[in-house]
Amino acid sequence: MCMVSKSDNILLIGFMGAGKTTIARALGKAAGYRIIDLDALIVERRGRAIAEIFSSEGEEAFRDYESEALRSLEPLSHAVVATGGGIIGRQENREFLRSLGAVVYLRASWKTLSARLAASDDRPLADPAAGLEKARQLWLRRLPLYEQAEIIIDTDEKSPAEVARAILQAI
Ligand code: S3P
Repeated sequence: MCMVSKSDNILLIGFMGAGKTTIARALGKAAGYRIIDLDALIVERRGRAIAEIFSSEGEEAFRDYESEALRSLEPLSHAVVATGGGIIGRQENREFLRSLGAVVYLRASWKTLSARLAASDDRPLADPAAGLEKARQLWLRRLPLYEQAEIIIDTDEKSPAEVARAILQAI
């Protein structure tokens, strides 16, 4: 098994539809990491779906819950964390992610992302019924933040197992 730099955790970041949850599962399987899905943790703790939190309490409340959930992960060992696409919006979250371990950006083209987003209707910030232009603008604004990651993996044309292998080689 390979050594993980800095600490033995892997933090997956990337836009909605980048495959963070899927890749976390593949990594868990390939290298025995504990899998943590931050969105799932928020849903479990708040007892309501993410779309419900957005519609009844607003995005800022969701961001607070998200930041809180991230902080609650410490101490963390031998885990792979699938974050939500907006976790990098707050600078303190970007710093905290770095302190937990290797931050890996799952990079995908807009073509890939938009095809996936068009096929799902559970993301308040990427509702295909309203068209995906707003989501594309959000993606463009966030790109420089994702690119601050220590490790960047291009995922287009790769299977989840191939992406997991590429991550394990890079860390
Ligand atoms: C969001 C991404 C979602 C979820 C929420 C907000 C975002 O997670 O946290 O809908 O702001 O990009 P995924 O990236 O897992 O879809």
